[in-house]
Amino acid sequence: MAVRDIIKLPDKRLRLVSEPIKHIDGDIRALVDDMFETMYKAPGIGLAAIQIGIPKRVIILDLSKKEGDHKPQVFINAEVTWASSEKSKYEEGCLSIPEYYEEVERPAEVKVKYLDLDGKAHETEVKGLLATCLQHEIDHINGVLFIDYISKLKRDRVIKKFSKAAKKVEE
Ligand code: NI
Repeated sequence: MAVRDIIKLPDKRLRLVSEPIKHIDGDIRALVDDMFETMYKAPGIGLAAIQIGIPKRVIILDLSKKEGDHKPQVFINAEVTWASSEKSKYEEGCLSIPEYYEEVERPAEVKVKYLDLDGKAHETEVKGLLATCLQHEIDHINGVLFIDYISKLKRDRVIKKFSKAAKKVEE
């Protein structure tokens, strides 16, 4: 297992549409292990493979609050199959846009189809924080970021801020 670098705004790879997983093999399991190690170290509650530069449809979550009480969840090839018309708002953040938070409105409940790490198919209906986090991560594998839902003014401002920071690192 290894902690990988998390790519950050304005890295263009964050806009890639990730490829579906055809076979869940040792490489995918190793990728998932690295993703958990990377996410726990950050720390964060969700991570998509593209955030460590791997354009594959792999998502992990762990919404458990307590240290040492991990509840790891893996979603392979996840897609939203139904969304409620009822909306809910959460203040969202993203490991690829560190220390930036904005309120985002999304469907309050969604149905999500995915494979687990054993390749077993599931379809589950989720709400609350889990619904928001899953939608945020599924957006990542489709090249969408939570800042796409905020005003253009705010979005331009945050992109500019991170572009400046990235330039400074290069210099
Ligand atoms: Ni994110």
